[in-house]
Amino acid sequence: MTALTLSTAGAATLRADALVVGVAKGAKGPVVAPGAEAVDKAFDGKLATVLETLGASGAEGEVTKLPAPSGIKAPVVLAVGLGSAPEKDETFSAEALRRAAGAASRALAGSKKAAFALPLLDGAADVAAVAEGALLGAYAFTAYQESKNGKEGNGKAPLAEVALLGAKPRDKEHKAAAERALAVAEEVNRARDLINTPPNDLDPAAFAAIATEAGKQHGIKVQVLDEKALAKGGYGGILGVGAGSAAPPRLVKLSYTSSRAKKHLALVGKGITYDSGGISLKPAGHNETMKCDMSGAAAVFAAVVAAARLGLEVNVTGWLALAENMPSGSATRPGDVLRMYSGKTVEVLNTDAEGRLVLADALTRASEEKPDAIVDVATLTGAMVLALGNRTFGIMANDDAFRTSLHEIAEEVGEQSWPMPLPAELRKGMDSSTADIANMGERMGGGLVAGLFLKEFVGEGITWAHLDIAGPAFNESGPYGYTPKGGTGSAIRTLVRLAERTASGDLG
Ligand code: BES
Ligand code: MN
Ligand code: ZN
Repeated sequence: MTALTLSTAGAATLRADALVVGVAKGAKGPVVAPGAEAVDKAFDGKLATVLETLGASGAEGEVTKLPAPSGIKAPVVLAVGLGSAPEKDETFSAEALRRAAGAASRALAGSKKAAFALPLLDGAADVAAVAEGALLGAYAFTAYQESKNGKEGNGKAPLAEVALLGAKPRDKEHKAAAERALAVAEEVNRARDLINTPPNDLDPAAFAAIATEAGKQHGIKVQVLDEKALAKGGYGGILGVGAGSAAPPRLVKLSYTSSRAKKHLALVGKGITYDSGGISLKPAGHNETMKCDMSGAAAVFAAVVAAARLGLEVNVTGWLALAENMPSGSATRPGDVLRMYSGKTVEVLNTDAEGRLVLADALTRASEEKPDAIVDVATLTGAMVLALGNRTFGIMANDDAFRTSLHEIAEEVGEQSWPMPLPAELRKGMDSSTADIANMGERMGGGLVAGLFLKEFVGEGITWAHLDIAGPAFNESGPYGYTPKGGTGSAIRTLVRLAERTASGDLG
């Protein structure tokens, strides 16, 4: 993992492989951002002119590398675009800083140490943003590549050390901001690793073993229900989905408790370690991306560990509903009826609508403990991707205020999301002639239909929200800002902030 330090050294004197400065888009060309005064001075005050000559504009994500002039210890100056310069009396947004820091880190893959001299006009909040962006941008999935040293193969090692200049190591708030950023970024990066891990190496049992190990390390109680325990408990949804696979399903419960907790938050994650569609097999195409179908469980796992590492004063229970959706002679068929953990029966019309089946059991089980709120996270529907695109997750809920809060929290941490409705009239499309409900309804509004299905398995009177992250969970195009190609770690930062807000009591 990338190391993080707060440094009091001056930009000119610090030993590093590169010095990162910010450049914004001004009305008359690029403007050097605050924090880079010493660097600009070494360029005789002409850094903006030099950058403009090189074609830089300060646009978001733009990266320009320059040889450092004499007077600067680092051999390279990297100017990263922050986007439009803020209006008078305004500062750069946290997300602009996060993205710029991330783009710089990515451009410095293969380097040992980079010093970041980006603007920190808002104090601790900006320390947090730059640290988070730099650490999230310094991610690479190299576990399956022969060479990890950046000299051969196609994987460069991530930037090894990030030094933040202008942050104060002895300032309590700055230190806390950096520590939080490190914990959150490490857990997001851990989730990205899980998502990127090939499905032959990450089956439900392997995921459960990793969770068990992490639980020991961070003081989280972990209980794993294996296929025998699931059968004994009557978890027909999870078992039905896992029935076709040689790798049996698991339900993992992660309990983080604080002696000072006043509230209890339950998080439920869809953990399909591979979604082939089952008997309703997906057509051939880019199905390798369906290893990402456990991104919800990875997000829940990461959020619980982050809550423990941060010592939040709230109880957080994570539920990972793990199964592999495969076709075989033992697989669930379209037409089969499953008896769910809640006792309800579900007619399976399409075995590719498997996420809602595993989540339903986990939601019912999570409800038994009467938490103050439940949030489930799932790569649930292609319909949500059609509706919101690849970077925005949908939020559905049985409580309008809670849905709004989640949307605001996501915005605050730099995750794109949008509130979606649960129109009651879509329920009748799931009426079944043989069972209580079918696992599929109308095609139109498919993401909302899935949400309505889940709602039926949430305990009476419990506040619940559903995040459909099918779009943003896995980035199939190029990297941008602090978002890599592949697994992104979507929704984790939202869940962690939700846990913090729940702990501090400024939420319901
Ligand atoms: N895992 C998929 C949804 C998905 C799509 C995730 C694209 C990530 C990217 C889910 O299990 C699925 O197959 N859903 C079906 C439901 C349908 C059969 C009702 C879908 O969206 O097509
Ligand atoms: Mn599916
Ligand atoms: Zn799926």
